[in-house]
Amino acid sequence: MNKPMKIAVFISGTGSNLASIINKQRQYKYEVVLVVSNKEEAKGLDFAKEAGIDTFTFKWNKNDKKLSDVQSQIISHGCDLIVLAGFMRILPELFTRDFKNKIINIHPSLLPKYPGLHTHQRALDNKDEYHGATVHFVNEELDAGRIISQTVIRIGKTNDADELASRLLVREHLLYPYTIGLIAANRVEWRDDILYIDNKPLSKPVLLNE
Ligand code: GRF
Repeated sequence: MNKPMKIAVFISGTGSNLASIINKQRQYKYEVVLVVSNKEEAKGLDFAKEAGIDTFTFKWNKNDKKLSDVQSQIISHGCDLIVLAGFMRILPELFTRDFKNKIINIHPSLLPKYPGLHTHQRALDNKDEYHGATVHFVNEELDAGRIISQTVIRIGKTNDADELASRLLVREHLLYPYTIGLIAANRVEWRDDILYIDNKPLSKPVLLNE
């Protein structure tokens, strides 16, 4: 049997996505071997510690263009994939280049709509009918890497941005582990800069709506 794919998860705060990624690791055959945070007080670090997963915290320094200490941790833990889960910093270009096609992120909007912050409020302000979350590969541009998967919810009578965020978070907790599972099973893979799903070029996002 193949060994589970080893992943590092990067967080900055609550870590509810991290918790769900950890809880579903057996089901989807990947293994969280390292949790990295730029905040020592990130609540999500407790989930890692409870599960006996190594953690590494570092102080963000905008002049550090390579994050060599973080890179060493990733390499020494043998990680095949870096999973950003509420990591609130933009990774330096040299870092994203060193891990080309090996970093994914979850973003709380239906990208390419609403890159950046305040996505829930922006969807409400625009009176959108639908909102959602997107898992995408990370490149040098913010929230602009190749989209892998999405989950969509109807906004309906949602009262405010907080309510919309919590309704969406429940879906994120399903979408992210599922998508990592697709990569771990080599169902989603890059070949010569073309992204494939099940051996066919990925032409539209994989949808997971329940
Ligand atoms: C999620 O909404 C995620 O989409 C965004 O940041 C939030 C992180 O939440 N990137 P948590 O820390 O996983 O609870």
